[in-house]
Amino acid sequence: MRQVILYIAASLDGYIARPDGSIDWLEDETYRLEGEDYGYNSFQQAIDTTLMGNSTYKVVKGMEMPFPYPDKTNYVFTRSSHPEAAFVKFVQEDPVSFVKQLKKQEGKDIWLIGGGQLNMQLLNARLVDEMIITFVPLILGRGIPLFASGVSEKMLKVQDVATYRNGFVQVKFKL
Ligand SMILES: NC(=O)c1ccc[n+]([C@@H]2O[C@H](COP(=O)([O-])OP(=O)(O)OC[C@H]3O[C@@H](n4cnc5c(N)ncnc54)[C@H](OP(=O)(O)O)[C@@H]3O)[C@@H](O)[C@H]2O)c1
Repeated sequence: MRQVILYIAASLDGYIARPDGSIDWLEDETYRLEGEDYGYNSFQQAIDTTLMGNSTYKVVKGMEMPFPYPDKTNYVFTRSSHPEAAFVKFVQEDPVSFVKQLKKQEGKDIWLIGGGQLNMQLLNARLVDEMIITFVPLILGRGIPLFASGVSEKMLKVQDVATYRNGFVQVKFKL
């Protein structure tokens, strides 16, 4: 069965964005490593579908660049109805039942982009198979958590750890 993989970056204190949703700290000059993509391109080869909460979609859409995943099937979860939009399909169904069905379909692996609300619901429903989390050596102090409030306690297996010269540490967890 195709796997659901959370591939995401977080601060040391477990935030994925500032309280206003910004992720400028990820692109900070201090962390620039010429030619390093932290496995992003090879990961992209393995997936054909993405999953996003609507808050994450709004951040992606607001970035000053063309939509970054035009060749993927992109599902955006929302509780309200939206007019059709380029590159994405809005899903008003419960993410848990939707992803259960999606995993049964033929296809490559599925990238859970985030954010924290979607991560929490899919993790609690045991629908996440792997997490590749790149920890940025930074304490934000406040922000949007990697897993929203309500996430269940869970023990994880660490499959791999990669360290980068800029201090990024990428941990691959199997669930
Ligand atoms: N650091 C990184 O690598 C990274 C990666 C991804 C995201 N992020 C950040 O994460 C932040 C967003 O995270 P978040 O936790 O606030 O929100 P989120 O999980 O991205 O999206 C939450 C939204 O998803 C929809 N939703 C949630 N549960 C649902 C359900 N059961 N049924 C239908 N729709 C549902 C709702 O949309 P409606 O309000 O439309 O109903 C809800 O407001 C952004 O700032 C983004 O930049 C960072």
